[in-house]
Amino acid sequence: MHLQIIIGSVRQGRAAKPVADWAFTHAKQRDDMTVELVDLKNWPLPMFNLPKSPAAGDYEDEQQQRWAKSVERADAYLFVCPEYNHGYSAVLKNALDYVYAEWGRKPAGVVSYGGVMGARAVEQLRQVMVELQMAPIRNAVHIAGVHQKIENGAFSGDQRDADQLQRALDDLAWWGNALHWARRTSH
Ligand SMILES: Cc1cc2nc3c(=O)[nH]c(=O)nc-3n(C[C@H](O)[C@H](O)[C@H](O)COP(=O)(O)O)c2cc1C
Repeated sequence: MHLQIIIGSVRQGRAAKPVADWAFTHAKQRDDMTVELVDLKNWPLPMFNLPKSPAAGDYEDEQQQRWAKSVERADAYLFVCPEYNHGYSAVLKNALDYVYAEWGRKPAGVVSYGGVMGARAVEQLRQVMVELQMAPIRNAVHIAGVHQKIENGAFSGDQRDADQLQRALDDLAWWGNALHWARRTSH
């Protein structure tokens, strides 16, 4: 079961990176998954402007093909995503829109933060995941006071954050394994 933790903010001084590093450290300690950090800062995809809908599947653009290969590698996703103006980040929406089938039939969870602990961003993201035929998990990680927990570029989650992350990772492992085998044995 291969998990990708996708960093959904490219803002200078973003909280998303230290939070994603923290989630990565926890996930790496588990023996039921392999884990990879995918930083959208390293994927400067243009705003989607290609002629065909990615749902059609025949990707002609070279960057789109490379992004599809990266997305395809995972059995499950954990998005680390801020709340911007009561929604989730535009950079993450663009990355989601860029390909289609590679996301499908895979579980996804969200780590978020902000005034209401990212609740609105998480709910919006779930709607989009369904359209991409992903399986959104129930247990999200809603971090309170994220900036107070970052020191010298490192995030230290409290016990509540760690418990929520563990529940999310447990769900992703269960669904990730189940759907990994289901994708291989049926169409
Ligand atoms: C464009 C913008 C819009 C924001 N809108 C919200 C918001 O609607 N709700 C909220 O709780 N925080 C909001 N914030 C504050 C963010 O939660 C905070 O800046 C957080 O650190 C952003 O995540 P990042 O540092 O990983 O980019 C906003 C920040 C920005 C830059």
